[in-house]
Amino acid sequence: MTSVDVPEQVSSDYIPFADKAKHSPDAAFFKTAIGIDNDDELKAHILSVQEKAWKVAPWGCIYVFGFLRISIVHRPEYQEIIKIGRERQNAILLDIGCCLATESRRVAADGFPAHNIVASDLKQGYLDLSHVLFRTSKETYPGHFIAGDVFDPEMLTIAPPARGPVPEPLPDLSRLMTLNSLRGHCSVINASAFFSCFSEEQQLLRLLSPVPGSLITGIQPGATVKGTRPHSCLGVGYDIFCHSPESWTELWDGTVFAKGEVRVIARLKEASFLGNVIQVLEWCVTRL
Ligand SMILES: C[S@@+](CC[C@H](N)C(=O)[O-])C[C@H]1O[C@@H](n2cnc3c(N)ncnc32)[C@H](O)[C@@H]1O
Repeated sequence: MTSVDVPEQVSSDYIPFADKAKHSPDAAFFKTAIGIDNDDELKAHILSVQEKAWKVAPWGCIYVFGFLRISIVHRPEYQEIIKIGRERQNAILLDIGCCLATESRRVAADGFPAHNIVASDLKQGYLDLSHVLFRTSKETYPGHFIAGDVFDPEMLTIAPPARGPVPEPLPDLSRLMTLNSLRGHCSVINASAFFSCFSEEQQLLRLLSPVPGSLITGIQPGATVKGTRPHSCLGVGYDIFCHSPESWTELWDGTVFAKGEVRVIARLKEASFLGNVIQVLEWCVTRL
């Protein structure tokens, strides 16, 4: 792939270039956060980052500029997330499967303290490119990055949800080596387009703080009835396991957590996903 053959072929809602018919509503954020106001310069910068990201792993979300997508701001719980970051002491936000961590950059720009944000992905190369995209360094951006596979027990052991008081001691985020150290400490977990990477029985994540109001939010392909659905990206067909709002609610309220421990809000919407307009499941699980 070269940086010039992609954008003209792809219709994306996320591209913050003025020459696109669908000019991203997040253009102002990118211009400020990256520090480039000129459209041509911004375009050249983003295309060069896309090319580097494609070399890290040639995934659909890179091809269709999914790494620029900011869905979290459109969820009803967004202001609550920012409030938790501002008001709850040591509130940690984990952006899991973050790709280039664009959503956590946005959350930081909107007021969640960046030094309490952990962005995690399978690919160290994507995390490194977060600094390239936003033209920051470890010295200038206080957020934390940790690479690893959530299915590696060294990174994340499947364990029951944390209950009772918040575990001691608080993790030192600057020395974080594994997500296991965050168990019971995450006030907010963002899982955008993450659970769709896996099959049904793997969809468990138990890092949430026991403090009431702690929440996990996400979006992924969904369906009115749960089951596998055919999808395609870059002309390649594949199956994605899709939950319905009902099956997603049952999974969290009664399986991952005991019945009544959480409030689950899950709804289907139409949205652009990897270049296609599909049904997506937008959801939030809040500890009661
Ligand atoms: C579809 S992308 C979504 C990226 C971003 N959250 C968004 O909304 O655009 C899925 C991300 O999950 C990461 N990922 C896939 N499998 C993973 C695993 N086993 N452990 C950690 N991250 C993983 C990929 O590297 C990729 O960046």
